[in-house]
Amino acid sequence: MFHKETLKGKTILVTGGGSGLGLAMADRFAELGADVAICGRTEAKLQVAVEQLKRHGRRVEYVVCDVRDDAAVEAMFRELESRLGVLNGLVNNAAGNFLSPSEALSLNAFRAVVDIVLIGTFNCTRHFARRLMAEKKPGSILNIVTTYVHTGSAFVMPSAAAKAGVYAMTMSLAYEWAEYGIRVNAIAPGAFPTHGAWSRLMPDDTFEQFYLKRHPWHRYGEKAELANLAVFLMSDLAPYLTGECIAIDGAERLQGGQFNFITQLMPREKLKTIFQAMKEKAKPSGG
Ligand code: HXC
Repeated sequence: MFHKETLKGKTILVTGGGSGLGLAMADRFAELGADVAICGRTEAKLQVAVEQLKRHGRRVEYVVCDVRDDAAVEAMFRELESRLGVLNGLVNNAAGNFLSPSEALSLNAFRAVVDIVLIGTFNCTRHFARRLMAEKKPGSILNIVTTYVHTGSAFVMPSAAAKAGVYAMTMSLAYEWAEYGIRVNAIAPGAFPTHGAWSRLMPDDTFEQFYLKRHPWHRYGEKAELANLAVFLMSDLAPYLTGECIAIDGAERLQGGQFNFITQLMPREKLKTIFQAMKEKAKPSGG
């Protein structure tokens, strides 16, 4: 479906691109012809990531930047523009999250997550778009949210609240910035384990086994699956696709379907027998 020039002419910044899903997306972008920039808080991580990304032969740059710091974000875009020209792609991937009972959260803890996810996305989005608008060039923004933007989720309330805000931002800006030729979309990934996320969100094996048991595919997502969807959304293959949030979670988010629980009760063959017996019983007696 993709070839090595699918993203030719794209210059894409991935926030939080030094590791995990951000790095996986940046790597696939570079492999398919994009020039790529990554930012994050830890320089050592970014340096290693850049070496990995350079193997594709594209221009690759990094900037140390905390997306919560608006002045630093503005300086980052200025700096990247001097090195790569005006960027035309932005992936807001940097995030913060941890498990906590909501009643135990301090204001500072709530703020730490909201600042990275919601304020950080706002900071990057605004500076990115302003520079594109000044140049009268089109571009594409991709926000990485979560499937629980629609439902909320216990024990990750700050993340749910912040990501829901990003989802609302996605739809708002898709409409508002259509006239500038800027598309704004979101991906809602299910579980794609990375060290950063899983060390904060998956306490141990028992939790993990329970999680996978109730997942309809009984497996996690693979980074490459997410990266390919990101490529599609950042490419020119989808010029009319904007304001959309695409879930990639193996249907995990749909577990609330009223009778979905039945799939977890017993093997399918046994279920068939039970359903058949119910059918027989429900037949009119004929008398
Ligand atoms: C309760 C916590 C906490 C925890 C930190 N805090 N961790 N409270 N439980 N586990 C509190 C601190 O006590 C402090 O409040 C406040 O939060 C700020 O903490 P700091 O460590 O000073 O903040 P900071 O260094 O800025 O770190 C931000 C962070 C951290 C969000 C807390 O976890 C981080 O940097 N995360 C980035 C990477 C990450 O989280 N990746 C996962 C994203 S996964 P007090 O009151 O003590 O000052 C994701 C996907 C979702 O989003 C979908 C999954 C299926």
